[in-house]
Amino acid sequence: MKKSNFGVVILAAGKGTRLKSKRPKVLHEIGGQALLLHVIAAAKTIVPAEKIYCVIGHEAERVQAAVEHTGVGFVMQHEQHGTGHALQMVKAWLAVNGGGMPENLMVLSGDVPLIRTETLQKLMMMHASEKAAMTILSAIPENAAGYGRVVRTEEGSMAVKAIVEQKDLKAEQHALREINSGIYCFATQDLFAEIDSLSDKNANGEFYLTDVASLLVAVGKRVVAVATESADEVLGANTISEMMHLDAAMRVAAAKRLMAEGVTIFRPDTCVIDAQVQVGADTVIEPYVQLLGSTKIGEDCRVRSYSVIQNSTLANGVLVRNGCVLDYAKVSAGAMLGPYAHLRPGSEIGEGAHVGNFVETKKTRMGRGSKANHLSYLGDAEIGEGVNIGAGAITCNYDGEHKHATKIGDGAFVGSDSTLVAPVTISEGAYVAAGSCITEDVPEGALALGRSRQTTKPGWVSARKANKTK
Ligand code: UD1
Ligand code: CA
Repeated sequence: MKKSNFGVVILAAGKGTRLKSKRPKVLHEIGGQALLLHVIAAAKTIVPAEKIYCVIGHEAERVQAAVEHTGVGFVMQHEQHGTGHALQMVKAWLAVNGGGMPENLMVLSGDVPLIRTETLQKLMMMHASEKAAMTILSAIPENAAGYGRVVRTEEGSMAVKAIVEQKDLKAEQHALREINSGIYCFATQDLFAEIDSLSDKNANGEFYLTDVASLLVAVGKRVVAVATESADEVLGANTISEMMHLDAAMRVAAAKRLMAEGVTIFRPDTCVIDAQVQVGADTVIEPYVQLLGSTKIGEDCRVRSYSVIQNSTLANGVLVRNGCVLDYAKVSAGAMLGPYAHLRPGSEIGEGAHVGNFVETKKTRMGRGSKANHLSYLGDAEIGEGVNIGAGAITCNYDGEHKHATKIGDGAFVGSDSTLVAPVTISEGAYVAAGSCITEDVPEGALALGRSRQTTKPGWVSARKANKTK
Protein backbone atom coordinates (compact mmCIF):
# COMPACT_ATOMS: atom_id res chain seq x y z
CA MET A 1 0.00 0.00 0.00
CA LYS A 2 1.30 3.38 -0.96
CA LYS A 3 1.49 5.83 1.92
CA SER A 4 1.20 8.60 -0.65
CA ASN A 5 -2.52 7.74 -0.83
CA PHE A 6 -2.99 8.78 2.77
CA GLY A 7 -3.80 11.91 4.68
CA VAL A 8 -3.99 11.98 8.48
CA VAL A 9 -6.64 13.84 10.46
CA ILE A 10 -6.02 14.48 14.15
CA LEU A 11 -9.08 15.38 16.22
CA ALA A 12 -8.10 18.06 18.72
CA ALA A 13 -10.97 20.54 18.88
CA GLY A 14 -12.71 19.28 22.01
CA LYS A 15 -12.70 21.06 25.34
CA GLY A 16 -12.02 18.05 27.52
CA THR A 17 -14.88 18.81 29.91
CA ARG A 18 -14.07 15.77 32.05
CA LEU A 19 -10.66 17.23 32.96
CA LYS A 20 -12.17 20.25 34.74
CA SER A 21 -9.14 22.27 33.64
CA LYS A 22 -8.72 25.66 31.97
CA ARG A 23 -6.01 24.25 29.73
CA PRO A 24 -7.25 22.55 26.53
CA LYS A 25 -7.03 18.80 26.94
CA VAL A 26 -4.65 18.16 24.06
CA LEU A 27 -2.12 20.58 25.62
CA HIS A 28 -1.95 18.68 28.89
CA GLU A 29 1.42 16.99 29.17
CA ILE A 30 2.52 13.45 29.70
CA GLY A 31 6.13 12.36 29.53
CA GLY A 32 7.04 16.07 29.39
CA GLN A 33 5.18 16.74 26.14
CA ALA A 34 1.66 17.84 25.17
CA LEU A 35 -0.69 14.99 24.24
CA LEU A 36 -1.15 16.45 20.78
CA LEU A 37 2.62 16.58 20.13
CA HIS A 38 2.85 12.86 20.89
CA VAL A 39 0.10 12.18 18.36
CA ILE A 40 1.65 14.46 15.72
CA ALA A 41 4.98 12.65 16.18
CA ALA A 42 3.22 9.32 15.55
CA ALA A 43 1.43 10.75 12.48
CA LYS A 44 4.72 12.04 11.07
CA THR A 45 6.06 8.50 10.97
CA ILE A 46 3.24 7.74 8.49
CA VAL A 47 2.98 10.83 6.27
CA PRO A 48 4.85 14.14 5.86
CA ALA A 49 3.64 17.10 7.94
CA GLU A 50 1.83 18.75 5.01
CA LYS A 51 -0.53 15.78 4.85
CA ILE A 52 -1.50 16.04 8.51
CA TYR A 53 -4.61 18.05 9.33
CA CYS A 54 -5.33 18.98 12.95
CA VAL A 55 -8.94 19.82 13.71
CA ILE A 56 -8.89 22.59 16.30
CA GLY A 57 -11.67 24.64 17.90
CA HIS A 58 -11.68 25.05 21.66
CA GLU A 59 -8.88 27.57 22.42
CA ALA A 60 -7.78 27.10 18.81
CA GLU A 61 -5.16 29.87 18.87
CA ARG A 62 -3.46 28.44 21.91
CA VAL A 63 -3.44 24.93 20.50
CA GLN A 64 -2.19 26.11 17.11
CA ALA A 65 0.61 28.18 18.68
CA ALA A 66 1.76 25.19 20.71
CA VAL A 67 2.14 22.81 17.76
CA GLU A 68 2.62 25.05 14.71
CA HIS A 69 6.37 24.39 14.66
CA THR A 70 5.67 20.81 13.57
CA GLY A 71 4.50 22.05 10.16
CA VAL A 72 1.04 20.43 10.25
CA GLY A 73 -2.09 22.06 8.77
CA PHE A 74 -5.13 23.23 10.74
CA VAL A 75 -8.86 22.85 10.12
CA MET A 76 -11.16 25.05 12.21
CA GLN A 77 -14.19 23.57 13.95
CA HIS A 78 -15.61 26.71 15.56
CA GLU A 79 -18.35 24.92 17.49
CA GLN A 80 -17.70 21.39 18.62
CA HIS A 81 -20.69 19.25 17.80
CA GLY A 82 -18.87 15.92 17.97
CA THR A 83 -16.23 13.84 16.22
CA GLY A 84 -18.49 13.33 13.17
CA HIS A 85 -19.04 17.09 12.90
CA ALA A 86 -15.25 17.50 13.01
CA LEU A 87 -14.93 15.30 9.90
CA GLN A 88 -17.67 17.34 8.17
CA MET A 89 -15.39 20.35 8.66
CA VAL A 90 -12.46 18.41 7.21
CA LYS A 91 -14.53 17.50 4.14
CA ALA A 92 -15.45 21.14 3.53
CA TRP A 93 -11.88 22.31 4.16
CA LEU A 94 -10.26 19.73 1.87
CA ALA A 95 -12.68 20.64 -0.93
CA VAL A 96 -11.25 24.18 -0.84
CA ASN A 97 -7.66 23.70 0.36
CA GLY A 98 -7.05 20.06 -0.44
CA GLY A 99 -5.02 20.31 -3.63
CA GLY A 100 -6.20 16.78 -4.48
CA MET A 101 -8.09 14.64 -1.98
CA PRO A 102 -6.03 11.87 -0.41
CA GLU A 103 -7.55 8.51 -1.38
CA ASN A 104 -7.59 7.38 2.25
CA LEU A 105 -7.84 9.22 5.54
CA MET A 106 -6.41 7.95 8.77
CA VAL A 107 -8.13 9.53 11.77
CA LEU A 108 -6.24 9.82 15.05
CA SER A 109 -7.49 11.15 18.34
CA GLY A 110 -5.59 14.01 20.00
CA ASP A 111 -6.15 12.36 23.37
CA VAL A 112 -4.86 8.87 22.53
CA PRO A 113 -1.11 9.60 22.75
CA LEU A 114 0.70 6.28 23.22
CA ILE A 115 -0.10 4.93 19.76
CA ARG A 116 2.90 3.28 18.07
CA THR A 117 3.90 3.59 14.44
CA GLU A 118 3.98 -0.24 14.02
CA THR A 119 0.32 -0.39 14.96
CA LEU A 120 -0.62 2.38 12.54
CA GLN A 121 1.27 0.59 9.76
CA LYS A 122 -0.60 -2.61 10.51
CA LEU A 123 -3.92 -0.75 10.44
CA MET A 124 -3.11 0.72 7.01
CA MET A 125 -2.13 -2.68 5.62
CA MET A 126 -5.31 -4.26 6.92
CA HIS A 127 -7.37 -1.42 5.45
CA ALA A 128 -5.82 -2.09 2.03
CA SER A 129 -5.93 -5.89 2.11
CA GLU A 130 -9.55 -5.96 3.32
CA LYS A 131 -10.53 -3.34 0.71
CA ALA A 132 -12.58 -1.77 3.47
CA ALA A 133 -14.41 1.54 3.49
CA MET A 134 -13.64 1.84 7.22
CA THR A 135 -11.06 -0.03 9.27
CA ILE A 136 -11.36 0.44 13.01
CA LEU A 137 -8.49 -0.05 15.43
CA SER A 138 -10.04 -1.81 18.41
CA ALA A 139 -8.73 -3.24 21.67
CA ILE A 140 -9.81 -5.39 24.58
CA PRO A 141 -8.79 -3.57 27.76
CA GLU A 142 -9.33 -4.79 31.30
CA ASN A 143 -11.92 -2.11 31.86
CA ALA A 144 -14.03 -1.06 28.88
CA ALA A 145 -16.05 1.55 30.78
CA GLY A 146 -16.26 4.92 29.04
CA TYR A 147 -15.35 3.69 25.56
CA GLY A 148 -17.49 3.06 22.48
CA ARG A 149 -17.95 -0.68 21.81
CA VAL A 150 -17.43 -2.53 18.58
CA VAL A 151 -20.34 -4.74 17.52
CA ARG A 152 -19.21 -7.45 15.08
CA THR A 153 -21.59 -8.99 12.53
CA GLU A 154 -20.95 -12.33 14.23
CA GLU A 155 -18.41 -13.69 16.68
CA GLY A 156 -14.99 -14.29 15.15
CA SER A 157 -15.77 -12.25 12.04
CA MET A 158 -13.59 -9.38 10.79
CA ALA A 159 -16.70 -7.47 9.77
CA VAL A 160 -18.35 -4.88 11.96
CA LYS A 161 -22.01 -3.90 12.14
CA ALA A 162 -21.78 -0.79 14.30
CA ILE A 163 -20.01 1.11 17.07
CA VAL A 164 -22.15 1.95 20.09
CA GLU A 165 -21.13 4.72 22.48
CA GLN A 166 -21.00 3.98 26.21
CA LYS A 167 -23.96 6.24 27.00
CA ASP A 168 -26.06 4.67 24.26
CA LEU A 169 -25.39 1.03 25.18
CA LYS A 170 -28.47 -1.16 25.54
CA ALA A 171 -28.64 -3.31 28.69
CA GLU A 172 -27.38 -6.45 26.95
CA GLN A 173 -24.51 -4.54 25.25
CA HIS A 174 -22.72 -3.63 28.50
CA ALA A 175 -21.01 -7.02 28.34
CA LEU A 176 -19.25 -6.10 25.05
CA ARG A 177 -15.54 -5.96 25.79
CA GLU A 178 -14.07 -4.85 22.47
CA ILE A 179 -13.63 -1.08 22.48
CA ASN A 180 -13.22 1.48 19.72
CA SER A 181 -9.81 3.17 20.08
CA GLY A 182 -10.92 6.29 18.18
CA ILE A 183 -8.34 5.49 15.48
CA TYR A 184 -9.51 4.52 11.99
CA CYS A 185 -8.68 4.35 8.31
CA PHE A 186 -11.33 5.45 5.83
CA ALA A 187 -11.66 5.36 2.08
CA THR A 188 -12.10 9.12 1.75
CA GLN A 189 -14.85 8.98 -0.88
CA ASP A 190 -16.95 6.49 1.09
CA LEU A 191 -16.52 8.46 4.31
CA PHE A 192 -17.44 11.77 2.69
CA ALA A 193 -20.47 10.22 0.95
CA GLU A 194 -21.97 9.42 4.38
CA ILE A 195 -20.54 12.08 6.69
CA ASP A 196 -23.29 14.66 6.12
CA SER A 197 -26.05 12.13 6.86
CA LEU A 198 -25.09 11.69 10.53
CA SER A 199 -27.74 12.39 13.13
CA ASP A 200 -27.30 13.92 16.59
CA LYS A 201 -30.23 12.07 18.12
CA ASN A 202 -28.23 10.33 20.83
CA ALA A 203 -27.38 10.62 24.52
CA ASN A 204 -24.86 13.44 23.96
CA GLY A 205 -26.72 15.34 21.23
CA GLU A 206 -23.55 15.13 19.08
CA PHE A 207 -22.67 13.95 15.60
CA TYR A 208 -20.67 10.79 16.25
CA LEU A 209 -17.98 9.76 13.78
CA THR A 210 -18.57 6.26 15.12
CA ASP A 211 -22.06 6.20 13.53
CA VAL A 212 -20.41 6.24 10.10
CA ALA A 213 -19.79 2.51 10.65
CA SER A 214 -23.48 1.56 10.52
CA LEU A 215 -24.19 4.09 7.73
CA LEU A 216 -21.49 2.46 5.57
CA VAL A 217 -22.80 -1.03 6.35
CA ALA A 218 -26.30 0.12 5.35
CA VAL A 219 -25.06 1.06 1.85
CA GLY A 220 -23.25 -2.26 1.48
CA LYS A 221 -19.69 -1.07 2.24
CA ARG A 222 -17.19 -3.16 4.15
CA VAL A 223 -16.35 -2.12 7.72
CA VAL A 224 -13.78 -4.14 9.63
CA ALA A 225 -11.98 -3.90 12.96
CA VAL A 226 -8.52 -5.06 13.93
CA ALA A 227 -7.59 -5.40 17.60
CA THR A 228 -4.25 -4.22 19.04
CA GLU A 229 -2.08 -6.80 20.78
CA SER A 230 -2.06 -4.77 23.95
CA ALA A 231 -4.73 -2.29 24.94
CA ASP A 232 -2.16 -0.04 26.65
CA GLU A 233 -1.24 1.96 23.57
CA VAL A 234 -4.80 3.03 22.81
CA LEU A 235 -5.77 4.07 26.32
CA GLY A 236 -7.46 7.44 26.20
CA ALA A 237 -6.89 10.37 28.51
CA ASN A 238 -10.23 11.82 29.53
CA THR A 239 -9.46 12.61 33.18
CA ILE A 240 -6.33 13.87 34.97
CA SER A 241 -6.08 10.53 36.72
CA GLU A 242 -6.12 8.63 33.40
CA MET A 243 -3.53 11.05 32.08
CA MET A 244 -1.19 10.51 35.04
CA HIS A 245 -1.55 6.78 34.50
CA LEU A 246 -0.25 7.27 30.94
CA ASP A 247 2.46 9.63 32.22
CA ALA A 248 3.72 7.01 34.68
CA ALA A 249 3.78 4.42 31.89
CA MET A 250 5.89 6.73 29.71
CA ARG A 251 8.34 7.56 32.53
CA VAL A 252 8.82 3.89 33.32
CA ALA A 253 9.47 3.24 29.62
CA ALA A 254 12.05 6.09 29.52
CA ALA A 255 13.85 4.76 32.61
CA LYS A 256 13.85 1.23 31.20
CA ARG A 257 15.32 2.44 27.92
CA LEU A 258 18.17 4.20 29.77
CA MET A 259 18.84 1.20 31.99
CA ALA A 260 19.05 -0.98 28.88
CA GLU A 261 21.79 1.41 27.71
CA GLY A 262 23.87 0.88 30.85
CA VAL A 263 22.58 3.61 33.16
CA THR A 264 21.95 2.72 36.82
CA ILE A 265 18.76 4.23 38.16
CA PHE A 266 18.02 3.51 41.80
CA ARG A 267 14.28 3.38 42.47
CA PRO A 268 13.30 4.38 38.92
CA ASP A 269 9.69 4.69 40.06
CA THR A 270 10.65 7.83 42.01
CA CYS A 271 12.43 9.56 39.09
CA VAL A 272 10.79 11.75 36.47
CA ILE A 273 12.56 11.30 33.15
CA ASP A 274 11.32 12.84 29.91
CA ALA A 275 11.20 10.73 26.78
CA GLN A 276 13.99 12.55 24.86
CA VAL A 277 16.56 12.61 27.68
CA GLN A 278 19.89 10.94 26.90
CA VAL A 279 22.27 9.50 29.49
CA GLY A 280 25.61 7.75 28.94
CA ALA A 281 26.60 4.34 30.27
CA ASP A 282 27.80 3.94 33.86
CA THR A 283 26.10 7.07 35.02
CA VAL A 284 24.23 6.65 38.29
CA ILE A 285 20.92 8.36 38.97
CA GLU A 286 19.81 8.37 42.59
CA PRO A 287 16.17 8.33 43.76
CA TYR A 288 13.94 11.38 43.31
CA VAL A 289 15.82 12.95 40.42
CA GLN A 290 14.12 14.75 37.51
CA LEU A 291 15.76 14.80 34.08
CA LEU A 292 13.69 16.95 31.78
CA GLY A 293 13.40 18.31 28.25
CA SER A 294 16.42 17.96 25.99
CA THR A 295 18.84 17.10 28.80
CA LYS A 296 21.94 15.12 27.79
CA ILE A 297 24.19 13.55 30.40
CA GLY A 298 27.52 11.90 29.65
CA GLU A 299 29.07 8.71 30.97
CA ASP A 300 30.30 8.05 34.52
CA CYS A 301 28.33 10.89 36.06
CA ARG A 302 26.45 10.72 39.33
CA VAL A 303 23.28 12.67 39.95
CA ARG A 304 22.34 12.67 43.60
CA SER A 305 18.82 12.79 44.98
CA TYR A 306 16.45 15.73 44.57
CA SER A 307 18.26 17.36 41.67
CA VAL A 308 16.18 18.74 38.80
CA ILE A 309 18.03 19.03 35.50
CA GLN A 310 16.25 20.64 32.59
CA ASN A 311 17.43 21.24 29.00
CA SER A 312 21.05 20.98 30.12
CA THR A 313 24.17 19.21 28.87
CA LEU A 314 26.60 17.46 31.19
CA ALA A 315 29.85 15.95 29.89
CA ASN A 316 31.44 12.80 31.32
CA GLY A 317 32.28 12.30 34.98
CA VAL A 318 30.24 15.17 36.38
CA LEU A 319 29.08 14.97 39.99
CA VAL A 320 25.80 16.65 40.77
CA ARG A 321 25.30 16.56 44.51
CA ASN A 322 21.90 16.70 46.19
CA GLY A 323 19.28 19.30 45.45
CA CYS A 324 20.81 21.08 42.44
CA VAL A 325 18.63 22.92 39.93
CA LEU A 326 19.96 23.25 36.38
CA ASP A 327 18.19 25.01 33.54
CA TYR A 328 19.78 25.45 30.10
CA ALA A 329 23.24 24.94 31.62
CA LYS A 330 26.38 23.36 30.14
CA VAL A 331 28.75 21.51 32.39
CA SER A 332 32.13 20.19 31.28
CA ALA A 333 33.83 16.95 32.25
CA GLY A 334 34.70 16.26 35.86
CA ALA A 335 32.94 19.32 37.27
CA MET A 336 31.31 19.13 40.71
CA LEU A 337 28.08 20.86 41.57
CA GLY A 338 26.19 21.42 44.81
CA PRO A 339 24.75 20.46 47.08
CA TYR A 340 22.07 23.04 46.33
CA ALA A 341 23.68 24.83 43.41
CA HIS A 342 21.44 26.75 41.03
CA LEU A 343 22.66 26.97 37.43
CA ARG A 344 20.39 29.26 35.48
CA PRO A 345 20.28 29.72 31.69
CA GLY A 346 23.60 30.54 30.07
CA SER A 347 25.75 28.96 32.76
CA GLU A 348 28.83 27.24 31.34
CA ILE A 349 30.93 25.42 33.87
CA GLY A 350 34.45 24.44 32.79
CA GLU A 351 36.30 21.18 33.18
CA GLY A 352 36.82 20.14 36.78
CA ALA A 353 35.32 23.38 38.10
CA HIS A 354 33.41 23.46 41.40
CA VAL A 355 30.14 25.23 42.00
CA GLY A 356 29.31 24.55 45.62
CA ASN A 357 26.52 24.99 48.15
CA PHE A 358 24.07 27.79 47.60
CA VAL A 359 25.92 29.19 44.62
CA GLU A 360 23.79 30.68 41.87
CA THR A 361 25.10 31.29 38.36
CA LYS A 362 23.42 32.97 35.41
CA LYS A 363 24.90 33.79 31.97
CA THR A 364 28.26 33.02 33.47
CA ARG A 365 31.20 31.18 32.04
CA MET A 366 33.58 29.60 34.51
CA GLY A 367 36.94 28.36 33.22
CA ARG A 368 38.70 25.11 33.85
CA GLY A 369 39.40 24.28 37.51
CA SER A 370 37.82 27.44 38.90
CA LYS A 371 35.99 27.22 42.21
CA ALA A 372 33.09 29.00 43.82
CA ASN A 373 32.39 26.71 46.70
CA HIS A 374 30.01 28.58 48.97
CA LEU A 375 27.17 31.09 48.97
CA SER A 376 27.84 33.18 45.84
CA TYR A 377 25.88 34.91 43.12
CA LEU A 378 27.72 35.02 39.80
CA GLY A 379 25.72 36.69 37.04
CA ASP A 380 26.83 38.01 33.62
CA ALA A 381 30.38 37.00 34.47
CA GLU A 382 33.31 35.74 32.42
CA ILE A 383 35.56 33.85 34.80
CA GLY A 384 38.93 32.49 33.65
CA GLU A 385 40.75 29.31 34.62
CA GLY A 386 41.96 28.43 38.11
CA VAL A 387 40.07 31.30 39.73
CA ASN A 388 39.08 31.11 43.39
CA ILE A 389 35.86 32.82 44.38
CA GLY A 390 35.59 33.06 48.17
CA ALA A 391 32.52 32.37 50.24
CA GLY A 392 29.77 34.90 49.85
CA ALA A 393 31.36 36.81 46.93
CA ILE A 394 28.78 38.50 44.74
CA THR A 395 28.68 40.11 41.33
CA CYS A 396 26.50 43.25 41.47
CA ASN A 397 25.40 42.97 37.85
CA TYR A 398 22.26 45.11 37.91
CA ASP A 399 22.10 48.87 38.43
CA GLY A 400 18.32 48.95 38.54
CA GLU A 401 18.04 49.48 34.79
CA HIS A 402 20.74 47.56 32.98
CA LYS A 403 22.79 44.42 33.41
CA HIS A 404 26.60 44.76 33.37
CA ALA A 405 29.43 42.30 32.94
CA THR A 406 32.14 41.22 35.36
CA LYS A 407 35.43 39.81 34.03
CA ILE A 408 37.81 37.84 36.17
CA GLY A 409 41.13 36.75 34.67
CA ASP A 410 42.93 33.41 35.03
CA GLY A 411 44.31 32.60 38.46
CA ALA A 412 42.63 35.56 40.19
CA PHE A 413 41.60 35.32 43.85
CA VAL A 414 38.43 36.96 45.04
CA GLY A 415 38.28 37.08 48.84
CA SER A 416 35.23 36.10 50.83
CA ASP A 417 32.27 38.43 51.06
CA SER A 418 33.50 40.72 48.27
CA THR A 419 31.05 42.62 46.13
CA LEU A 420 32.15 43.23 42.57
CA VAL A 421 30.19 46.20 41.19
CA ALA A 422 29.87 45.68 37.42
CA PRO A 423 31.02 46.65 34.90
CA VAL A 424 34.35 45.72 36.40
CA THR A 425 37.44 43.68 35.51
CA ILE A 426 39.68 41.76 37.88
CA SER A 427 42.73 40.99 35.74
CA GLU A 428 44.86 37.85 35.67
CA GLY A 429 46.39 36.82 38.95
CA ALA A 430 44.96 39.81 40.86
CA TYR A 431 43.80 39.54 44.47
CA VAL A 432 40.71 41.08 46.00
CA ALA A 433 40.85 41.31 49.78
CA ALA A 434 38.03 39.76 51.76
CA GLY A 435 35.09 42.04 52.47
CA SER A 436 35.96 44.45 49.64
CA CYS A 437 33.50 46.45 47.61
CA ILE A 438 35.21 46.67 44.23
CA THR A 439 34.07 49.51 41.98
CA GLU A 440 37.24 50.00 39.89
CA ASP A 441 39.19 47.64 37.66
CA VAL A 442 42.00 45.72 39.35
CA PRO A 443 45.15 45.39 37.18
CA GLU A 444 47.13 42.20 36.68
CA GLY A 445 48.89 40.94 39.77
CA ALA A 446 47.59 43.75 42.02
CA LEU A 447 45.92 43.50 45.43
CA ALA A 448 42.75 45.56 45.81
CA LEU A 449 41.34 46.45 49.21
CA GLY A 450 37.98 48.13 49.16
CA ARG A 451 37.06 48.41 52.80
CA SER A 452 37.60 50.78 55.72
CA ARG A 453 40.43 49.99 58.10
CA GLN A 454 39.64 48.26 61.33
CA THR A 455 40.02 50.28 64.55
CA THR A 456 40.76 48.37 67.76
CA LYS A 457 40.30 49.99 71.16
CA PRO A 458 42.26 48.09 73.84
CA GLY A 459 40.58 47.78 77.24
CA TRP A 460 37.35 49.33 75.97
CA VAL A 461 35.06 46.73 77.55
CA SER A 462 36.36 46.99 81.09
CA ALA A 463 36.44 50.78 80.82
CA ARG A 464 32.74 50.81 79.92
CA LYS A 465 31.86 48.47 82.79
CA ALA A 466 33.74 50.67 85.23
CA ASN A 467 31.86 53.72 83.92
CA LYS A 468 28.45 52.04 84.45
CA THR A 469 29.06 51.10 88.13
CA LYS A 470 29.97 54.68 89.03
C1 UD1 B 1 -14.36 8.66 21.34
C2 UD1 B 1 -15.24 7.69 20.53
C3 UD1 B 1 -15.35 6.38 21.30
C4 UD1 B 1 -13.98 5.82 21.58
C5 UD1 B 1 -13.07 6.85 22.28
C6 UD1 B 1 -11.66 6.34 22.32
C7 UD1 B 1 -16.86 9.10 19.33
C8 UD1 B 1 -18.27 9.56 19.28
N1 UD1 B 1 -16.54 8.26 20.34
O1 UD1 B 1 -15.06 8.91 22.55
O2 UD1 B 1 -16.10 5.43 20.55
O3 UD1 B 1 -14.07 4.65 22.37
O4 UD1 B 1 -13.08 8.09 21.56
O5 UD1 B 1 -10.80 7.17 23.04
O6 UD1 B 1 -16.07 9.48 18.49
N2 UD1 B 1 -13.15 16.25 19.21
C9 UD1 B 1 -13.19 17.20 18.21
N3 UD1 B 1 -14.35 17.84 17.95
C10 UD1 B 1 -15.51 17.56 18.60
C11 UD1 B 1 -15.47 16.57 19.61
C12 UD1 B 1 -14.28 15.92 19.89
O7 UD1 B 1 -12.17 17.49 17.59
O8 UD1 B 1 -16.52 18.18 18.29
C13 UD1 B 1 -11.87 15.58 19.51
C14 UD1 B 1 -11.48 15.69 20.97
O9 UD1 B 1 -10.66 16.84 21.17
C15 UD1 B 1 -10.70 14.40 21.20
C16 UD1 B 1 -11.29 13.44 20.20
O10 UD1 B 1 -12.01 14.21 19.25
O11 UD1 B 1 -9.32 14.59 20.91
C17 UD1 B 1 -12.24 12.44 20.86
O12 UD1 B 1 -13.27 13.15 21.53
P1 UD1 B 1 -13.78 12.72 22.97
O13 UD1 B 1 -14.86 13.66 23.36
O14 UD1 B 1 -12.66 12.54 23.90
O15 UD1 B 1 -14.43 11.31 22.63
P2 UD1 B 1 -14.65 10.08 23.60
O16 UD1 B 1 -15.83 10.31 24.44
O17 UD1 B 1 -13.39 9.72 24.27
CA1 CA C 1 -11.45 10.71 24.52
